[in-house]
Amino acid sequence: MTDTSHTPGQHWNSRQYAEHASFVPTLGQDVLDLLAARPGERILDLGCGDGALTERIKAQGAEVLGVDAAEEMVEAALARGLEAKRIDAYQLPFDHEFDAVFSNAALHWMLDPQTVLAGVARALKPGGRFVAEFGGHGNVAAICTALIASLQFRGISARGRHPWYFPTTEEYAHLLETAGFKVDSIALIPRPTPLPTGMQAWLETFAQPFFHGLDEDLKITVMDNTLTLLSHTLSDGQGHWSADYVRLRVVAHLPEAVSLT
Ligand code: BEZ
Repeated sequence: MTDTSHTPGQHWNSRQYAEHASFVPTLGQDVLDLLAARPGERILDLGCGDGALTERIKAQGAEVLGVDAAEEMVEAALARGLEAKRIDAYQLPFDHEFDAVFSNAALHWMLDPQTVLAGVARALKPGGRFVAEFGGHGNVAAICTALIASLQFRGISARGRHPWYFPTTEEYAHLLETAGFKVDSIALIPRPTPLPTGMQAWLETFAQPFFHGLDEDLKITVMDNTLTLLSHTLSDGQGHWSADYVRLRVVAHLPEAVSLT
């Protein structure tokens, strides 16, 4: 659920993540159902975060390896008794060894999807499947706009601060096909998501690159301005916040090996 070795300014803290982002794995059941892991399968969980979903895949009887670029998250996954490694998603070292690659809420942190998909295809056995959900086109659009406007209002360019990749279905399907996959299903799913600990906690957990390098006073001003702008659309005025999530959910598979006999 995290993978940020290439995201300047973003740092992960497993305690902060558990406190403010526990809804992420909770809302991962649909994509887990799509994966439908079977006993005996070998599965790679790409961007496994603290391993909350990796653990659920293991409970289905599959053998699962979680990988993440954030050391703190890998440690949290290991502490659950899972097989987990710190691995850069741009340099997946696997060679046709997994029945499925699974990923939830991680791929939007990887701004070079072509390289990631090439590594995913290489990691899979012939006929292997790729099942993923992440932020798609339009994801957190109000949040991004409010952050960019608040920075600009203070004369700060947002160029280079937007850390996420939110593709359309057409764009991502094309990338998958280029990497050798057949797309079984791909859809954008708007999913306004209640934030149990509020918008400021979400911004502090996930949107650090927008504040990177600002002095403390400026950070507070940009945060306050962002919250004021967002309060009109993403708060009910009673202290309940939601995020304007749009999920891109995809299932794809590699062709079976061609027999030359
Ligand atoms: C998401 O899951 O869509 C998401 C999470 C953190 C930052 C941006 C997007």
